[in-house]
Amino acid sequence: MEHDIADSLRTRRVLVTGADGQLGAALCETFAGDDVLPFTLGDWDVTQPPPAVGGLDLVLHTAAWTDVDGAEADPQSAAAVNVGGTQHAASLGAPLVYFSTDYVFDGRKREPYVESDGPNPLSAYGRTKLHGEAAAGEGAWIVRSSWLFGWTSHNFVRTMLRLGAERDEVAVVDDQRGCPTYVGHLAEATRAIVELEPGVWHLAADGECTWAEFAEAIFAEAGLDCRVRRITTAELGRPAPRPAYSVLGSERPGAPQLPHWRDGLRACLERLELLPD
Ligand SMILES: NC(=O)c1ccc[n+]([C@@H]2O[C@H](COP(=O)([O-])OP(=O)(O)OC[C@H]3O[C@@H](n4cnc5c(N)ncnc54)[C@H](OP(=O)(O)O)[C@@H]3O)[C@@H](O)[C@H]2O)c1
Repeated sequence: MEHDIADSLRTRRVLVTGADGQLGAALCETFAGDDVLPFTLGDWDVTQPPPAVGGLDLVLHTAAWTDVDGAEADPQSAAAVNVGGTQHAASLGAPLVYFSTDYVFDGRKREPYVESDGPNPLSAYGRTKLHGEAAAGEGAWIVRSSWLFGWTSHNFVRTMLRLGAERDEVAVVDDQRGCPTYVGHLAEATRAIVELEPGVWHLAADGECTWAEFAEAIFAEAGLDCRVRRITTAELGRPAPRPAYSVLGSERPGAPQLPHWRDGLRACLERLELLPD
């Protein structure tokens, strides 16, 4: 009994890979009540076997090759990180959370993708992330999320804030629909998910929009006077194909509900101290 109480009071040792990425940084904050080991690329290149770190209670594996277009040109290197790196994370032997993506789907549906929908990735990045799901192993939590943004690293919100301050107009794709998800909200949901059964979970923001609608919301919320010119994916001409529709929903009972993407946007701008009075 005393042992049980002591055990439940013990802080967990939680290793976070990609700790200086946008999701990794949010997870380090959200799990701050635990004993967090924040591992950056400099601490451990996940394409290499893991260093000796002692006993762990949880591994939050966010480290990934996230350059979607770059993966098209160099799929082997992307696979070394996203598949090989995940095998190495699993070899630590602790309960593992692997973060996957809406880009495992082909985007042909017109209603939210749920966990039992069959994946069919269009891009090299999507294929490596799907193989990474298998590499994470049966007992892992596979958290699929989408269109992440946060206060660090490269992301659409930070790019639009920069362009919106420099230009009168930006051209943004209006024929891809998804759920822009704030990493702070995903990190909170991750804390909830590790109390639930492992397996595939879809955790993305409530609501949906196109990139152009998202850009308009960013300019409106940040008080930037910049127009959005709506263009097609074909006009943008990026190397990697993206799903036209990749809204995620969960069919699993008890799945954590994330706030609406617009609330996530406001939370992110607040964090960046960019909300006008
Ligand atoms: N971004 C999205 O829209 C999105 C959507 C759905 C799912 N996801 C998934 O969510 C996770 C987190 O994404 P994110 O947006 O937070 O990514 P991110 O900001 O690009 O961060 C990725 C992190 O991984 C690190 N990394 C790259 N290669 C590594 C290696 N070989 N060894 C160790 N660390 C390495 C990067 O370090 P450096 O910065 O030093 O290179 C960076 O800290 C990823 O698994 C991603 O696939 C992302």
